[in-house]
Amino acid sequence: MKKWYAVIGDPISHSLSPFMHESWFDEYDIDAAYLPIHVEPSQLEKSFEAMKTLGISGFNITLPHKQSIVPLLGKLEESAMQMNAVNTVNFDGTHYLGSNTDGDGFVRSMLAHSVGKASKVLLIGAGGAARGIACALKRAGFTDVTITNRTFRRAEELAAETGGTAVTLIESEERLAEFGVLIQTTSVGLATGEALPISLERVKAGTLVADIIYNPLETPFLKKAEEKNCITLNGVGMFVYQGAIAFEKWTGIQPNTEKMIQLITEKLGGTYVND
Ligand code: ATR
Repeated sequence: MKKWYAVIGDPISHSLSPFMHESWFDEYDIDAAYLPIHVEPSQLEKSFEAMKTLGISGFNITLPHKQSIVPLLGKLEESAMQMNAVNTVNFDGTHYLGSNTDGDGFVRSMLAHSVGKASKVLLIGAGGAARGIACALKRAGFTDVTITNRTFRRAEELAAETGGTAVTLIESEERLAEFGVLIQTTSVGLATGEALPISLERVKAGTLVADIIYNPLETPFLKKAEEKNCITLNGVGMFVYQGAIAFEKWTGIQPNTEKMIQLITEKLGGTYVND
């Protein structure tokens, strides 16, 4: 019987998840559909009940529901418990199981760039996205993670929780040449013309500089990193790998991520270069 999946959010029409999952369903000859569903916050509980009644097999959750879905779910995986936020739900026959594949998605996109687990990593930001990545780095075995943030107290809290070290923005700028990997998780860069979250003056050439933002494909931060001869990684990889992990939970198949990164990059008006 045909299975159905969805992504719920408010707004939802811009989501690239339907394109991604339907392409994979086609590629692997799976009889399933994936729908974008606009759910306003006041309708979340009713909408989830309706999806359950209709027999949905799994769904993704995007803003603003990632946290408010948590109390509605029967079971949570560790990734979701650590973040108190869910982006993927899978019906295992009995329960609707919530997980959070964002952080692991980011780490997989980094590992695809041959980043070693002994790398010295600087995480910029201490919000929800940074927490997901810090937890995923720890689970993956990265042992040297430094966190910096505009509000230093939040960097300290996240470092204490994940076994990292906190430094101020100024200290991170001064010590920038020590790091082999920089991960930009703040919202600075979503709007053009914004300043960088930290100065990249002292970054070493060859450093892997990642930004979790994928629209624009090249944030001012990545542009600057490129000028400094760094290897850059935009947020398309994270987006595709978080979807790939969800797809794997639903179907047991590890989908083709390389081709999807290329397709999504092209959809966003970019040219894909595999470095
Ligand atoms: P998300 O869940 O997307 O990570 P968030 O929890 O609101 O969103 O976190 C936003 C992050 O971007 C925080 O690290 C925030 O820094 P503060 O903790 O100091 O607020 C950072 N951020 C947002 N705007 C910023 C700015 N203009 N300059 C520097 N950092 C900024």
